[in-house]
Amino acid sequence: MSQEEYHENILDAVMERVRPHIGKGHVADYIPELGKVDPHRFGFALATVDGDIHSAGDVDIPFSLQSITKLFTLALVVSGSDDIWQRVHREPSGSPFNSLYQLEFERGIPRNPLINPGALVVTDQLLSDTGDAVGTLCDLLSRESGNPHLQVDEVTAHSEYLTGDRNRSLAYLMSDFGNIRNPVSEVLDHYFRQCAITVTTVELARIGLLLARHGVRADGSRMFSREAARRIMAVMLTCGTYDAAGEFAFRIGLPCKSGVGGGILAVVPARYSLAVWGPGLDPRGNSVAGALALEAFTDITHLSVF
Ligand code: DON
Repeated sequence: MSQEEYHENILDAVMERVRPHIGKGHVADYIPELGKVDPHRFGFALATVDGDIHSAGDVDIPFSLQSITKLFTLALVVSGSDDIWQRVHREPSGSPFNSLYQLEFERGIPRNPLINPGALVVTDQLLSDTGDAVGTLCDLLSRESGNPHLQVDEVTAHSEYLTGDRNRSLAYLMSDFGNIRNPVSEVLDHYFRQCAITVTTVELARIGLLLARHGVRADGSRMFSREAARRIMAVMLTCGTYDAAGEFAFRIGLPCKSGVGGGILAVVPARYSLAVWGPGLDPRGNSVAGALALEAFTDITHLSVF
């Protein structure tokens, strides 16, 4: 069997298992603009570390990247220095991604960089490092996705701005503890806009290769160290799907990062980047069909990290 046939067979088998579940779950209407997306969409794309793409379903429709961006702001920050780990821990929170209570007990140091307060700290650091957090992120994602025109969807960004009081609360609380260094409104503006970057499922699979290749860019140059890649993927596995991280490790066994736009990025280190998109979410904010597709993938291929 050729590599092409092998991958097509995997995709067919995954799609067959997922099809009855497409459309299940609820779109993220706490950000009104995301509430307008058709929950019956579904896409699955697999990118090999050599850059070959295999895909099925709605893989060319742009969707909101949301929390998946948290991986790449972190990658940008750690590619400069490890100092960020003084400002954010790396433990699973066991709480929803926008929970406030733990942050006060733990004196403004977020549990990990993949929940909202942790990502706000990382964006604050990226803003200090570069002067333009969202611009730097957009440049990176454009280069790695193969689409030089990736953009912030300004309508979604505005929708986040209008409904972002919980993120404001997190950011001001951390600022009170001295863990936000730029003006809070500026950090929030970059954070809202970073979440509203849109990509297609195929573009996301290409972007994920940065991790699957342990920090090596599409052009072959190294962006961050192998050790940093290993650490980012460890945090993905333990914290990337919030209070469902244990469930994801149990069912899928791959580093995964979800976003409330319905995307999930998963990595088989040194082999594949997997991107799935299904806008219907479970109560913890993870794509229902996306999680099922990844579970089908590891069941069929036995390619989990365990
Ligand atoms: O800040 C928020 O709440 C959203 N812009 C992002 C949350 C998110 O994607 C969490 N993911 N599952």
